[in-house]
Amino acid sequence: MSREVVRIITSHRQREGGGFIVRRPFPTRGFNHADPFLMLDEMGPVEYAPGEAIGAPDHPHRGFETVTYILEGEAEHADSAGHRGKIGPGDVQWMTAGRGIVHAEMPSRAMRDSGGRMHGFQLWVNLPARDKMMAPRYQEIPRAKIPSATTPDGLATVHVIAGEALGCSAVIETRTPIAYQHWRFDAGVSLDVPIPTDHTAYVYVFDGSLSVGGSVLDAGQLAVLGQGSGVAFAATGKAQALLLSGVPIREPVVQYGPFVMNTEREIEQAISDYRQGKLGEIDYSATH
Ligand code: FE2
Repeated sequence: MSREVVRIITSHRQREGGGFIVRRPFPTRGFNHADPFLMLDEMGPVEYAPGEAIGAPDHPHRGFETVTYILEGEAEHADSAGHRGKIGPGDVQWMTAGRGIVHAEMPSRAMRDSGGRMHGFQLWVNLPARDKMMAPRYQEIPRAKIPSATTPDGLATVHVIAGEALGCSAVIETRTPIAYQHWRFDAGVSLDVPIPTDHTAYVYVFDGSLSVGGSVLDAGQLAVLGQGSGVAFAATGKAQALLLSGVPIREPVVQYGPFVMNTEREIEQAISDYRQGKLGEIDYSATH
């Protein structure tokens, strides 16, 4: 049975980090729960002049995962565990904050100095209670190692960040079953994509317009899918979308900014631990 669209959400614009603007389909007024996902932000596409690019300076996280996927531009990352990284087009950084980390997410030095085009996504994935206090970890996967495949008619290509599609299995390991797929469609495509029946599923269109389960969505819109074993895509022009699905965690979600726990008490603990420096701080002496 093919899934139908039960709801279409139009993303709103939101100011984030040091002041950059994102397009955010959720959370938004009237649609807070995309269990197991907490937030999706589209950064850009934006053309930065020299000296204009801004990011998110030092800030903490606890209790969930942040997934950064860059399409254009370059992002640098530094954190309290001593990790440094730079990701560019097609690369993915899947960070499991677990019990806590302090990090900075910035456009690369070259982009800050010279400007350039930036486009990417940040997805927040919730962790179940049993994993909220796990040790932080990274999966930093370059474009060349992200599996991708094209349909036999050549009209659809997928990059498999998590889960599987078109016979490709992701290299990224997730704590709960999740699919994260980036689809590129050409005019005339008509394709059924399987989705496990126990997953909740969402499609975010970010380029062109796309028929999802018979409903046409424009760039910036998110489709909340109903139950079923797959979804039908069709497009009359070029289009791109993210397909996100996962087994819902079905636990209480108590969020205070960058901390996402199960109870108020755990949030108070997170704030107290952060204030006492237990989530660490970034040592910049090593970077220059
Ligand atoms: Fe962050």
